[in-house]
Amino acid sequence: DRFFGKSLDLAGKHILITAGPTYERIDPVRFIGNYSSGKMGYALAEEAAARGARVTLVSGHVSIAHDFSPSVDVVRVESARQMLDACEAAFADADAAIMCAAVADYAPAAPSDTKIKREGNEPPVIRLVKNPDIARTLGERKRSGQILVGFALETDHEGDNAISKLKSKNLDMIVLNSLRDAGAGFSTDTNKITIYTADGRTVPFPLKDKREVADDILDIMLTL
Ligand code: CTP
Ligand code: CA
Repeated sequence: DRFFGKSLDLAGKHILITAGPTYERIDPVRFIGNYSSGKMGYALAEEAAARGARVTLVSGHVSIAHDFSPSVDVVRVESARQMLDACEAAFADADAAIMCAAVADYAPAAPSDTKIKREGNEPPVIRLVKNPDIARTLGERKRSGQILVGFALETDHEGDNAISKLKSKNLDMIVLNSLRDAGAGFSTDTNKITIYTADGRTVPFPLKDKREVADDILDIMLTL
């Protein structure tokens, strides 16, 4: 089974992928966000679809141009809360989920319904509350046979932090990218990853285009 030279080794599989940043509303015109470009998640969605999978891509706000095949269903969300709702709905029927999004850890406790005005006011203090952990929630809900993949972006103690997230979120594997590596991270077209699996493997990869990195991730997933 090949299609334009690609093996259709994910045919019949439904894969949930999260991508991009979440935006947490401060008032109608402002939010707390992060630098995630969505490129890694979008590359994963594209490669998984090219290998025959049906994909549900739950995406925060990104500005990359894309032209997906009909087998990718894009669900647009803004906040972590909305992303969780969309993921819970799609995960029930999914064979695997890849949590690539940069989910904001905190959201404003009481977003304002009206624009916060500058004139005559002291600088506001914005109190934050914890967002739900989407990966952990799916990890608790995982049925046997479902594969759950997380990402970790670390600046220090990378391997140890990645493995502790793998365990605490009940993941089957975690993809570490280090912000210390040149050419790896948010807005680049390349990435340098190390994969840790729950069955104890550590698989390092060289710096590659994000499309090839996506294929490496899907290859390791298939071994699980
Ligand atoms: N994640 C998630 N929901 C959150 C936070 C993180 O689903 N509220 C997912 C990310 O998509 C990623 C994994 O959990 O797959 C690890 O994210 P990361 O931010 O590295 O981990 P945290 O547990 O938030 O820990 P910290 O930011 O303190 O390092
Ligand atoms: Ca985090």
